[in-house]
Amino acid sequence: KKIVLAYSGGLDTSVILKWLIERYKCPVIAFCADLGQEENWEEIKERGLKCGAEKVIIRDLKEEFVRDYVFFAIKAGARYEDWYLMGTSVARPLIAKEQVKIALEEGADAVAHGATGKGNDQIRFELTYTALAPELKIIAPWREWDFKGRSDLIEYAKKHNIPIPVTPEKPYSIDANLFHISYEGGILEDLWQEPPEDMFIMTVSPEKASAHPEYIEIEFEKGEPVSINGERLSPAELLKRLNKIGGKHGIGRIDMVENRFIGLKSRGVYETPGGTILHIAHRALEQITLDREVMRFKDSLMPKIAELIYYGFWYAPEFQALKVFIEKTQERVSGTIRLKLYKGNVIVVGRKSPYSLYKKDLVSFDKSEEYNPKDAEGFIRLQGLRLKIYHLLEGGGL
Ligand code: ARG
Ligand code: SIN
Repeated sequence: KKIVLAYSGGLDTSVILKWLIERYKCPVIAFCADLGQEENWEEIKERGLKCGAEKVIIRDLKEEFVRDYVFFAIKAGARYEDWYLMGTSVARPLIAKEQVKIALEEGADAVAHGATGKGNDQIRFELTYTALAPELKIIAPWREWDFKGRSDLIEYAKKHNIPIPVTPEKPYSIDANLFHISYEGGILEDLWQEPPEDMFIMTVSPEKASAHPEYIEIEFEKGEPVSINGERLSPAELLKRLNKIGGKHGIGRIDMVENRFIGLKSRGVYETPGGTILHIAHRALEQITLDREVMRFKDSLMPKIAELIYYGFWYAPEFQALKVFIEKTQERVSGTIRLKLYKGNVIVVGRKSPYSLYKKDLVSFDKSEEYNPKDAEGFIRLQGLRLKIYHLLEGGGL
């Protein structure tokens, strides 16, 4: 009856748009999510219409994206396999949610996306569709058609007069939003090959970074960054500002091999300048505001949370429950972190919070009421009790 396609304006989804109309002989609405990626939206709209879209809907989701998705990832400290800050993983559930909304508003009965059949994104899109509107039919052209790769697409585009994007195809695949840019595939599939310097968009290399360190202060409220150097900014404005500052100092490049959900290893190169600064600053604030056992427990959940996001389970019940826990831990994560940025490094140089649990007078060597060093004697003796018993059985520790 009617299909809503998640449309980026690139070659792949432009071909998909045309292909859907031919194959299903029904109107197709092209939906573009503005998550802060640099795009010429007018041009994309025109291209969508030229490919035959009934209409092109562009939604500005920047503030929602940063507030509810990026900032949650920061609060959770979410890093997949230690390094990946999840810039694409957090974007998919929001795009798919908005797409479902549009499908219901427009009376469509199917949704389609341009993710390949080998990746994570197909899973993230489709788990979200299924969770939020199981009645919608899901169309994944990359798993359905006979095209093998790029050259087939270009041939189809030429045959059907599809306007090919003027910018020449890059020798790798890009996914961009306000949080990060990811690069994979093409020349990056050779693990021994260093990415070309001209690939990077958000950051300069550390060797080309500013020769002068820069100091900044970031203020947080309940785990969320709210101002830079005393200036209050909206979530999207704040991240944009930090991207610029971080980019200038060569911060936030990662080159890694990761385990995709489907079971393949894949190389991903990422730049996440503002996000890298936020992760470090947020952690520094947690160091003074989180109770030790809350921190231990939160940290033990982090790999699971990162995995759920990476696998596409944003709308799973266990993830919703974990979210409530994370928010609870952030109630006192308020205060200010002072950082020095220099040639790829983010160095914490100052921290303060009205909820700081750090008590200078207690840790210093002077005697105090709350802490009597004599208590440590019995504490250590009892901690050592079972060690003593264990090793005595072997006739001593040595
Ligand atoms: N490997 C990353 C992830 O699964 C990025 C995937 C999309 N990136 C791309 N260049 N197409 O989240
Ligand atoms: C894709 O395959 O469409 C992009 C990569 C991924 O989803 O992991």
